[in-house]
Amino acid sequence: MCGIFGISSTKPISNQLIKGLSKLEYRGYDSAGISGHGIKNQLVTIKATGPIKNLNSKLYKLQGITTGISHTRWATHGQPTLKNTHPHLSGDICTVHNGIIENYMDLKSYLKKKSFVFKSDTDSEVICHLINYYFSKSANMQSAIISTANSLEGSYALAAINAQTPHTIYSACKGSPIILGKDVSSNYISSDMTPIVDHTKNYIPMDDNEFSEISSSDIKIFNKNKRVLSKPTKVSKINKNQASLMGHKHFMHKEIYEQKAIIEDMINRYVGKNKILPNIFGHSTDKLLEDIKHIHFVACGTSYHASLVAKDWIEQFTTVTCTAEVASEYKYKKINVLPDTLFVSISQSGETADTISSLKKALKLKYTNTLAICNVAESTLTRLSGMNFLMNAGPEISVASTKAFTSQLFTLLLLTAIISRRYDNTEKRMVQDIRKIGKKIEELYEMEPEIKKISTKFKNKEHTLFLGKGASYPIALEAALKLKEISYIHASAYHSGELKHGPLALVDRRMPVVCFLPDNHLARLVLSNLAEVEARQGQTFIFTNKKIAKNKKQVKVIKMPDCPDLIVPILYIIPAQLLSYHVAIKKKTDVDKPRNLAKSVTVE
Ligand code: AGP
Repeated sequence: MCGIFGISSTKPISNQLIKGLSKLEYRGYDSAGISGHGIKNQLVTIKATGPIKNLNSKLYKLQGITTGISHTRWATHGQPTLKNTHPHLSGDICTVHNGIIENYMDLKSYLKKKSFVFKSDTDSEVICHLINYYFSKSANMQSAIISTANSLEGSYALAAINAQTPHTIYSACKGSPIILGKDVSSNYISSDMTPIVDHTKNYIPMDDNEFSEISSSDIKIFNKNKRVLSKPTKVSKINKNQASLMGHKHFMHKEIYEQKAIIEDMINRYVGKNKILPNIFGHSTDKLLEDIKHIHFVACGTSYHASLVAKDWIEQFTTVTCTAEVASEYKYKKINVLPDTLFVSISQSGETADTISSLKKALKLKYTNTLAICNVAESTLTRLSGMNFLMNAGPEISVASTKAFTSQLFTLLLLTAIISRRYDNTEKRMVQDIRKIGKKIEELYEMEPEIKKISTKFKNKEHTLFLGKGASYPIALEAALKLKEISYIHASAYHSGELKHGPLALVDRRMPVVCFLPDNHLARLVLSNLAEVEARQGQTFIFTNKKIAKNKKQVKVIKMPDCPDLIVPILYIIPAQLLSYHVAIKKKTDVDKPRNLAKSVTVE
């Protein structure tokens, strides 16, 4: 979703701004713009719809600028047109904004009465006019930004420059992150660390209701009372080389192929011979997990699907009860928290607005503690959560999540094993199964040529059904999400037993039905559900092992390696990820940046 990147330096920065914007591309956007102090400090702005490279032909206008702000816009209020593209301009002031201003209609009518002229349909433009309005009264940018923030309802990360106060970038944030990067003769402002790590690893995250003023030599952070805050500088662990394609055609493909190494690395780090290593979720967490009786999982999208698998695992192997809620629902629900309940948020980015506000809500409730399972160390979620687990899967660039999902599942498997410690030999048996995952993933990669062939059968379809039972149901949900995200084919997932309660009406010889059928105690029931599909001549594609495949000669079977039931969800999703990838390739969609979607969903 929208991204902000700004630099104040002693040297020209226009090329660095473009490069920085490209680093934010993965978040999803549909237009981009840059503003800086030009000759005699007058503001110069360039904007373009579509890809960032469309700015290149206008870049000469920014030659020589040493302070500037830039933005990628993912349209919420107003279409992705030039007039709605940031930066917005009001008098001598330019602004960029991430988030949503909920009271923008009221502010707009107020400002119109004061003769401000609006040029866009965005909620963001009010910010620019408000700063201009307050600056005209106080002639002080700090005061103008604080007064503006006091008038705004909703979420914002904003950056502003003023022709009258050159070489300085002002910013404020609430509910949407801003990170400040610190170097010797340049300082940076950004929505996340990705563009900053190209220049420096030193950073200061801003907290809600904080303001900043950066120049090439100084970073000043202050609160609403203009009191200067002394905040520690942190050192980022992000490695700038991790975000390259390394010979793969798409990040999604690269990330699918990274899963084996990531999980093997996690095994080395966290799994002992017969036990999970002590306190992997943080100081004294084993003791906490020993006493926990309930878990509330909260997440969105793929991360939510991971929580559904965790619920299945934990309830199957322990007496701990779990709920799994979609974050956008959790926030608005009455939540009953029983004693000894742990809140667990799961997020790849750690910047998903719904998940962050759910955590904020949870922090006010009577949970024993809050645990965030996340892939991005310097994210808002990890900063707010009581306990953190960093998956260290490396940056996930493709909008369609793959390696983050299996890393989340692996982490949740570790959580299950630790909780199961209270019961006899369960942890030891789980550890033995966990140790097999890496080798089994290797076997899955060998299936790619076959999956590629099968993908042809989906290319011209408009609808697909995915079926699963038990822990395979969330895998069906995740496989369906992958297919619709990147190939734009409508896909629905059902518990296989639910088919006869409605969706079976959709099945005829044109309908592909993909089924995850591991060889376990539920297989017999799923086979009966599949018989209902076959009787209606649906085109079945079954992921199962050799033994079950033997009796299914008449349908398309994708043979999976034999594996312990515990690790089925981690293994069965991988060929499904490859299937979606190859369908998308055949449909020539933008695999890594599917239409209408953003990598970090920073608005609610
Ligand atoms: C997955 O392929 C999606 N792009 C999406 O559902 C994603 O998982 C969701 O937006 C949550 O993101 P998060 O894990 O970064 O919080």
